[in-house]
Amino acid sequence: MYIMFIVIAILLVFADGFTVHGPPDPLVAPLGSSVVLLCYVDEPLPVKDLEVEWKRTDSETLVHLFVDGESRAEVQQQDYHDRAHFFTDQIQHGNFSLRLDNLRAEDEGKYTCKVYSEQDSGETVVQLKDVERLLVSGSSRSISAYDGEDVTLNCTVDSHIKPEHIEEVSWKRADVDIPVLLYQNNETFPDSSDEQYTDRVEFFTDEIPKGNFSLRLKSVRTEDKGVYMCEVFAGVLSANATVVLQLGESTKHGK
Ligand SMILES: *[C@@H]1O[C@H](CO)[C@@H](O)[C@H](O)[C@H]1NC(C)=O
Ligand SMILES: *[C@@H]1O[C@H](CO)[C@@H](O)[C@H](O)[C@H]1NC(C)=O
Ligand SMILES: *[C@@H]1O[C@H](CO)[C@@H](O)[C@H](O)[C@H]1NC(C)=O
Ligand SMILES: *[C@@H]1O[C@H](CO)[C@@H](O)[C@H](O)[C@H]1NC(C)=O
Ligand SMILES: *[C@@H]1O[C@H](CO)[C@@H](O)[C@H](O)[C@H]1NC(C)=O
Repeated sequence: MYIMFIVIAILLVFADGFTVHGPPDPLVAPLGSSVVLLCYVDEPLPVKDLEVEWKRTDSETLVHLFVDGESRAEVQQQDYHDRAHFFTDQIQHGNFSLRLDNLRAEDEGKYTCKVYSEQDSGETVVQLKDVERLLVSGSSRSISAYDGEDVTLNCTVDSHIKPEHIEEVSWKRADVDIPVLLYQNNETFPDSSDEQYTDRVEFFTDEIPKGNFSLRLKSVRTEDKGVYMCEVFAGVLSANATVVLQLGESTKHGK
């Protein structure tokens, strides 16, 4: 019995196998912040012949490579050059975690941490599920329209929250503070519009799943001239963007 136990223990020591661990749950972090992608083994590994490779699981993009005792910045994807930080002093503890700085929306996805030693190799996958953000964009240039024309006022939402889970999008006149059109919990409420806009405003319903909450304004009138605000609410977050509508001289109409 004891002999068998000793034999197994010896086998384990000589096999020098290891298991690579990652974080227990997918990660969520705010846009622009830093996040540590955990990757470690239980027992320290000799640095000689050690190789640690961090890659995007989907695109195979090399995020960080540590080989022969040093980080190889020259083979790493340019984009990660200044943003991926490897804890060189942690290697002796069997910790191969990577810190990713200044998080971007495109960082969402899966990362594979592959560890190779002389005897064995192993890997773990770390998922960065959400880069939390709510960015709303309108139009940087003002829109010009003639009396009677139809116009589209742009409003697009980029968020980790899917468009169908956005609670509210409210279009209003920012200069005169009147409601233009309201969208709440998957529904448009035309009755909430100010009289001035009744039957003249709508969303592009088919575009909403893409985060396009642009407003269609029909038969533009003189009093429509002004500043429009698209305000978006999702969970604890809110953001807005504006679009300026100008009216062309009606005398120039009909070129
Ligand atoms: C590995 O190092 C990182 C960075 O110092 C630290 O946040 C993490 O807790 C360490 N993990 C383990 C398992 O030691
Ligand atoms: C509105 O968005 C569309 C699509 O992105 C773009 O082509 C167009 O130039 C935008 N309009 C304005 C006034 O910014
Ligand atoms: C909108 O509809 C989708 C799918 O029908 C649903 O999952 C979601 O919870 C709804 N969103 C809101 C804010 O009610
Ligand atoms: C939103 O959708 C409308 C209708 O397809 C389109 O005209 C407009 O350019 C889109 N806006 C953006 C910003 O994509
Ligand atoms: C619109 O967003 C800006 C920040 O981008 C914020 O300072 C302002 O309070 C917001 N306005 C409204 C009416 O929510």
